[in-house]
Amino acid sequence: MKFGHFDDARKEYVITTPQTPYPWINYLGNENFFGLISNTSGGYCFYRDARMRRLTRYRYNNIPVDNGGRYFYVHDEGDFWTPGWMPVKRDLDFYECRHGLGYTSITGERNGVRVNQLAFIPLNYNGEVYKVTVKNTSDKKKSVKLFSFVEFCLWNAQDDMTNFQRNLSIGEVELKDSVIYHKTEYRERRDHYSFFSVNRAIDGFDTDRESFLGLYNGLDNPQVVAKGEPSNSVASGWSPIASHHLKLDLAPGEEQTLVFVLGYVENPQEEKWEALDVINKTRAEAMIAKFAEPAQVDASLAELAAYWNNLLSKYMIETGDEKLGRMVNIWNPYQCMVTFNMSRSASYFESGIGRGMGFRDSNQDLLGFVHQIPGRARERIIDIASTQFDDGSAYHQYQPLTKRGNTEVGIGFNDDPLWLISGTAAYVKETGDFSILDEDVPFDNDTNNSATLFEHLKRSFYHVPNNLGPHGLPLIGRADWNDCLNLNCFSNTPGESFQTTENIEGKVAESVFIAGLFVFVGPDYVEICRRRGLEKEAAEAEALIQGMKETTMKHGFDGDWFLRAYDHFGDKIGSKECAEGQIFIEPQGMCVMAGIGVESGDAEKALDSVIEKLETKHGIVLQQPPYSKYYINLGEISSYPPGYKENAGIFCHNNPWIMIAEAEIGRGDRAFEVYSRIAPAYREDISDLHRMEPYVYSQMIAGRDAVRHGEAKNSWLTGTASWNFVAITQAILGIKPDFDGLKVDPCIPKAWDGYTITRVFRGDTYRIKITNPNHVSKGVAKLTLDGQEITGQVIPVVGDGKTHEVEVVLG
Ligand code: GLC
Ligand code: GLC
Repeated sequence: MKFGHFDDARKEYVITTPQTPYPWINYLGNENFFGLISNTSGGYCFYRDARMRRLTRYRYNNIPVDNGGRYFYVHDEGDFWTPGWMPVKRDLDFYECRHGLGYTSITGERNGVRVNQLAFIPLNYNGEVYKVTVKNTSDKKKSVKLFSFVEFCLWNAQDDMTNFQRNLSIGEVELKDSVIYHKTEYRERRDHYSFFSVNRAIDGFDTDRESFLGLYNGLDNPQVVAKGEPSNSVASGWSPIASHHLKLDLAPGEEQTLVFVLGYVENPQEEKWEALDVINKTRAEAMIAKFAEPAQVDASLAELAAYWNNLLSKYMIETGDEKLGRMVNIWNPYQCMVTFNMSRSASYFESGIGRGMGFRDSNQDLLGFVHQIPGRARERIIDIASTQFDDGSAYHQYQPLTKRGNTEVGIGFNDDPLWLISGTAAYVKETGDFSILDEDVPFDNDTNNSATLFEHLKRSFYHVPNNLGPHGLPLIGRADWNDCLNLNCFSNTPGESFQTTENIEGKVAESVFIAGLFVFVGPDYVEICRRRGLEKEAAEAEALIQGMKETTMKHGFDGDWFLRAYDHFGDKIGSKECAEGQIFIEPQGMCVMAGIGVESGDAEKALDSVIEKLETKHGIVLQQPPYSKYYINLGEISSYPPGYKENAGIFCHNNPWIMIAEAEIGRGDRAFEVYSRIAPAYREDISDLHRMEPYVYSQMIAGRDAVRHGEAKNSWLTGTASWNFVAITQAILGIKPDFDGLKVDPCIPKAWDGYTITRVFRGDTYRIKITNPNHVSKGVAKLTLDGQEITGQVIPVVGDGKTHEVEVVLG
């Protein structure tokens, strides 16, 4: 069952009922200011850091769900309602939500009044703009009263929902003309405030929540809106809000458009005040002036659309499969951008408080994003590397506002360092910019202790051989990619975090996954050494990689598949010998991607075991059989009920590793089958079961051992976005950036006749036409660039900024 449809021409998902199986959200903002908005107008916004600079309140875990947002209430002769249905939930004669790239447009109609609210964050602008159009669709004159509403967060979202003894006394606002300013704590150390404006004279206002709602009312029944009269309240302590009141007289057929801005301003210390206790509003007024007229809004929206068209034009497919088209051309790159911006900080499952930017996550997000805006990827790599320690280890996360490592989340996840090599190599391959390797980058943000980025990569690489266990496999530390495989944790205290609790000295537990990752990313480090003329370095690294390959086959292979790990006692995890957790997906994907066991046929065996043991119609589960009880020596993985999350859920992040591995051994039909099982557009018809947005990936789909097999959770912020983009665009469709050009190496279903890719690469545009006359999965029989035949599979960089025709014949 569906709850809407794709509108590919407008690059939108159109939701046709407010009662989706879960709030279906969108993101606004591209650089510093961001908002989350659901199909019923719920959500919140923040400046750079969802924890430390939150503008509006949002209550997670609320009843009803998703209650809190930027709302426009309509009062129409005693009747009142909201165009997004929530929070008033009055029946609507028409409802539609269009989530587009960086904007959301919600339309509701009731009793001859149609309201459209279009929300977006303009480029280079620290605020949300709302264009609200109210139309009289009836044949009589209408007097409509509009009430806007936002509730302010007192900046620090964590403190805001815990520190009531202080917070209920500090709220302050200021009013001038049609603008409500929120200035809590501005009198002391903050140099920032927010404001909510509308572009016409108002007929009243409210800034005190209790006056607006009534102490015992919810957002569904504000007393001011019910009465149709503002109370002109001025907040002093308690909970500051901003509500404008506007009276609109509309002739039959008439429509009026208003523009609201919810903005953020920082003032330099010496420019904070205009007079005692009167904030300097110059910057706010300049921001408001930019959107005084609806035409300015339309122009800004057009700029946003052009921005997105440009980004999406970097990789485009022409194919007969419309679902594939909308994933590759629109929604997957869009999600990659959002995850790159947010890491795992703010979604409807991530509270914006718990997590900053992950070291491993951000490096992986970059893989799907780097072709869109390489300059920002470059900056991100430097930021991430600056939080690394000089022994190569890393903070697991850093705060985006301060760009410093987050001590609360700790260090010692032994896969982290390797992802820096992978992120950096992806950047260099995309851009050819080797100069990044010479950048001087601090360790742990200490400018007195720094080295080149290349040196950081070297320390990342050697962190593995410097930390080997009894079998010569990498020590796992706190955990590897699987945050929940906590082999040195031994936690028996309720509520203790498995990721940060004091670990026992771990010199035994080893990870086969990290071994695979080392062999997978190592060759990029070797190539970078060679290109810097470091032949000796390169040869040494190569020997270490070769050694790790052999060790993995010797101690990390279980006969039919790769083992997962050795625990603290040196016992196997992910082996036939285990009662539960006999086979795991991660090492099968990663080791085969790395090429381990490919020649001997063991890789194929491992991937066949995945089909036999882990496959379901909703995707591949993480392991089997699930853990039926808590194992103190395994940690969080066994804390989840069977079928959910890391305990045998379909963890969508690692399914693409299997796609890439299948492509590695040439099984194109299988690679695409795995792709289409979890790609959201292919699951749209089962939205009632899947429940999450059909336009973006979720982190997890419940596995076959779960009660709700096929139900997704944790949509939007997941490494799934970037890895699926890499799997489909590089491994399956086969256009892969390499140090010297674009490598062409498709691995597709045999039945496909062909497709065309337009790829912008280092300033040139390549129109790559791929045909498959002999219906093979893999193998390039002929490659021509502008009519000239090329030997090998790499399209060299032409470098003239023009469009070039590439023809590829498979066979
Ligand atoms: C989450 C984390 C990611 C981790 C994965 C598996 O997605 O963000 O870092 O690799 O879970 O535990
Ligand atoms: C929990 C989640 C896991 C995530 C981790 C991050 O363990 O299950 O997916 O990676 O938290 O801290």
